[in-house]
Amino acid sequence: MEANRTGAGLTGLATTAADTRSLTAADVEAARAETPGCATVLHLNNAGAALMPRPVYEAITGHLAREYAIGGYEAKEEAQGRIEGVYGSLARLLGAAPREIAVVENATVAFDLAFHAIPFAPGDVVFTSVAEYASNYLAYLRAREAAGIAIRVVPDDERGQLDVAALERLLAEPGPGGRARLVAVSHVPTQSGLVQPAAAIGAAARRHGALFLLDATQSAGQLPLDVAALGCDLLCSTGRKYLRGPRGVGFLYVREAILDELRPPFIDLHAATWTGPESYELRPDARRFENWEANYAATLGLGAAVDYALDRGLEATWARVRALGARTRAGLAAIPGVTVHDRGATLGGIVGFSVAGWEAEALRGALRARRDRPDGTAGARPINCSVSVASSAILDFAGRGVESWVRASPHYYNSEAEIDEFLGAVAALARR
Ligand SMILES: Cc1ncc(COP(=O)(O)O)c(C=O)c1O
Repeated sequence: MEANRTGAGLTGLATTAADTRSLTAADVEAARAETPGCATVLHLNNAGAALMPRPVYEAITGHLAREYAIGGYEAKEEAQGRIEGVYGSLARLLGAAPREIAVVENATVAFDLAFHAIPFAPGDVVFTSVAEYASNYLAYLRAREAAGIAIRVVPDDERGQLDVAALERLLAEPGPGGRARLVAVSHVPTQSGLVQPAAAIGAAARRHGALFLLDATQSAGQLPLDVAALGCDLLCSTGRKYLRGPRGVGFLYVREAILDELRPPFIDLHAATWTGPESYELRPDARRFENWEANYAATLGLGAAVDYALDRGLEATWARVRALGARTRAGLAAIPGVTVHDRGATLGGIVGFSVAGWEAEALRGALRARRDRPDGTAGARPINCSVSVASSAILDFAGRGVESWVRASPHYYNSEAEIDEFLGAVAALARR
C-alpha cells in the first residue's frame, strides 16, 4: 500500500500510482452500461443512495441465493474468504490495515460507537464545525448531559469552510479546566458541496493532542481518502452513498495505536471473549466494535462496491464528480429565480439550491413526476433529487432564510447530457 502512494497534499487527497488516469467518455459509458438504473431514472440523488452497479447487485443477490439454497450459516462459511476480503478492500480504500476496520450497520452506528467509546471526563472539549450533521451533534449533546463535556463550534472562514486558524486558537485555549479532547467534523456535509480542509484539521488536532474523528459518509467514494494524510484517528462511513453499495451497511476505521484507549460501549461474544465469571477479553482488532450477527449479503455488496470504486480510481472519480458538480452549480445559477446555497473553497458533487416560488419538497416531487406532465417532457425519465432540511444541519441553515432546499448530487456515471436535461427541467419549472 505505502509503496503505491504517490503523495498527499494538504487536502489529504492521496493518490495512488494506479490512479493517475482520468475517466474517459468510454469509461463513463461502460459504467452506465453496468448500471441498469440509468435507463430508468435520471439519478441525481447519489448523496442519498447511489445507483448500484451490476457487480454490487450480483454480490448481494448471489449471497442471498446461497443463503436461500444452503442456509445462512453455511453460506457464510462458504463465503468466509470473500468476507475477509471486504476488510482488505476497505483498508485499501482508506490506506489503512484490515485489522483497523469494523463493518457495522451504517455510518451513524459507526460514528456513535467510536464517539461513545472515548472515555470523556468532565471538562473535555469537543470541537466541531458549523456544517455538522444532526446525528453527530446529537451525540455531542448527549455526551454533554452524560459526561459533562463542552461543545465548541469552530466558525467558518470567509469562504464558508471551517476556519483552521480559529480551530488552532481554540485548541490552544480550551477554556478554564478544559482539555481539547476531540475534533469531530463531517468531511462533506449532507446538505452542500463543501469539502472541509480535513487534512489541515487533522494536523491541528494532532498538534494539540486531540483525537480526530472524521465523518466520511459523503466523501467516501466521492474523493480519495487516506487516513494517514488526513491525520484521522477514527473515520466512519456508509455503503449506499458515493460508494454505490447497498443500504444497511457501513464501516468504521480505528487507528490501531488508539484502540486500547477506547472503551467500546457495547460488547458481545464477537467483540470479546467471556473468559470467566468475572472477566472478558476484547478482540485485538477494530472488530471489537462489531457484533456477531451481520448482513453478509450487504457486507459482500459493500466489498464489491469498494472494489468497483478502486477500479475506476478515486482521483479520476473525484475529478469528474467535481466537474459535474461545477456544471450543475453554474447551470443552476444562470437560471432566473434559482439560488445556489453551496459555500466553500473546495466544492464537490453535492449542490443545494432553491427556486423562487417553489417549496423544496414540491420541486423535488415535480422533478420526479415530470414524465406525467403534458409539457413536452412526457415519457422522460423521472429526475431523482432529494431535499435537505434545516433540522439535519441547523447551524448551517441558520441565517440562510430558508428551512429546506433541493439537493442534486451527480456522480461520475451521470452524463453531461443528463445534467443539461436536469437544468432544462429546472428552468421549465422556474418559469411557471
Ligand atoms: C454527513 C453525513 N453523516 C452521516 C450520515 C448518516 O449516514 P447513515 O444514514 O448511513 O447512518 C449522513 C446521511 O445522510 C450524512 O450525510
